Amino acid sequence: MTQEELFKKLVAHCKEYGFVFPSSEIYDGLGAVYDYGQNGVELKNNIKRYWWDSMVKLHENIVGLDAAIFMHPKTWEASGHLAAFNDPLIAHRDSKKRYRADVLIEDWLGKQDEKIEKEVEKARKRFGADFDEAKYRATSPRVAETAAKRDEVHARFAAAMNANDLTELRQIILDCEIACPISGTRNWTEVRQFNLMFSTQMGSTADGASTIYLRPETAQGIFVNFLNVQKTGRMKLPFGIAQIGKAFRNEIVARQFIFRMREFEQMEMQFFVRPGTEMQWWNEWKNTRMAWHRALGFGDDNYRFHDHEKLAHYANAATDIEYNFPFGFKEVEGIHSRTDFDLGNHQRLSGKKLQYFDPETGESYVPYVVETSIGVDRMFLQVMSAAYTEEKLDGGEQRVVLRFPAALAPVKVAVLPLVKKDGMPEVAQKIVDLLKYDFNVVYDEKDSVGKRYRRQDAIGTPFCVTVDGQTLEDNTVTVRYRDTMQQERIAIDALYHLVDEECSYRKLFKKLNL
Ligand code: GAP
Repeated sequence: MTQEELFKKLVAHCKEYGFVFPSSEIYDGLGAVYDYGQNGVELKNNIKRYWWDSMVKLHENIVGLDAAIFMHPKTWEASGHLAAFNDPLIAHRDSKKRYRADVLIEDWLGKQDEKIEKEVEKARKRFGADFDEAKYRATSPRVAETAAKRDEVHARFAAAMNANDLTELRQIILDCEIACPISGTRNWTEVRQFNLMFSTQMGSTADGASTIYLRPETAQGIFVNFLNVQKTGRMKLPFGIAQIGKAFRNEIVARQFIFRMREFEQMEMQFFVRPGTEMQWWNEWKNTRMAWHRALGFGDDNYRFHDHEKLAHYANAATDIEYNFPFGFKEVEGIHSRTDFDLGNHQRLSGKKLQYFDPETGESYVPYVVETSIGVDRMFLQVMSAAYTEEKLDGGEQRVVLRFPAALAPVKVAVLPLVKKDGMPEVAQKIVDLLKYDFNVVYDEKDSVGKRYRRQDAIGTPFCVTVDGQTLEDNTVTVRYRDTMQQERIAIDALYHLVDEECSYRKLFKKLNL
């Protein structure tokens, strides 16, 4: 199965098992907007809890905030989003489709890498055991030619992006003979900047309505509340403010399911530090955030850092944590050193001092900020991609199982009476009652036990508990484990402890060493 096929199956699975639906599907959906179903919302909430508690509970110097989505329009002038939150848009005259010029070029660069890898694989097959990969890469004329072309275009691309040179971006597209994927032709328009913010009106027209924006990042709600929180919480630098909330971007091309959406959710933390210490904190947060991802156990090699070549308008250093999705390594989280760009500009435009008095130095200054910013939906897709597994079982049967870390699983326990009689449903219901105050538990009595196991595997339930004839005699049940499919007989009284041990966030948090 190719990675593309795997991804298609994953998307279909998300719909079939109540994780993600296209928004307003009865009207054929809305581009890049999605709804979370009964299992999706549980997984999403669990991801948010893992993030929130690791920030706010495990760090004494980080507190939470929930700011409004609508903000004063000046916010976006100060933040630079009105002037600079743009993507380079290019349209195609034949297909009438719009594309991001930078993404067309990035895809072309990716294809050159694929070409090189194909050459290497071909040579590996040709030379067999004697193959010296390093030597082949260094000496093959074909590989050298492709790599040289790729490097040259890459250098031009990086320079054009940094200089905001839209004419050069178009020229690169023409020089690389990039064609529209729909029409196959190269009838491109000029490249122009496209602002990603959604706008709407506040107040009636008669009152003189003003244009306001749906926030494109949650961070600004934190910046404008910096002094409110610092003063009322008597916070001392360094300290952080964490927030989870919706953000909106009018993305030019929305691709790869929930990877790039127009309405999405962010989990952001702004860490306020003394100027001059920001690089030390940036490195610290890089490590802390990577540890948070790796604690989920999806394989350390599936994550990597990718430093930004083109820095956002507010940053002096930035890196992404990328995950190895079925469509390649892509950004899940950004860690940015934002200097005093935002607080400084808010201070200037509002005319209000946004300074911190440092009792250690006796000075007042605008703090610097290190930000960690992760998309909930993208993290959701990452967890889904990592957890989705197809397995061939003994006897030729196949199962799809979602191998979630137990703390993130939407349902922790399924309680299954073997038959719908002889008092088994009543005992099963008592077990549900025993667990339901602390865990998301379901009761299922339909179909054979085998079929019920498959249904729970498909939504990633770590434990299935079966009530049978023996239960009525000795108060024991069969626990069936999702990953190993092994079964064990245990006392009903021991169930709570078993589930609690495995499903608690404690297990994950301990790995973070915070
Ligand atoms: N406050 C900084 C900021 O917003 P960003 O790199 O633009 O930085 C941070 O976004 C994270 O938000 C990304 O790493 C990604 O996980 C998520 N994100 C950004 N745009 C998104 C979109 N259109 N759909 C889903 N998630 C998105």
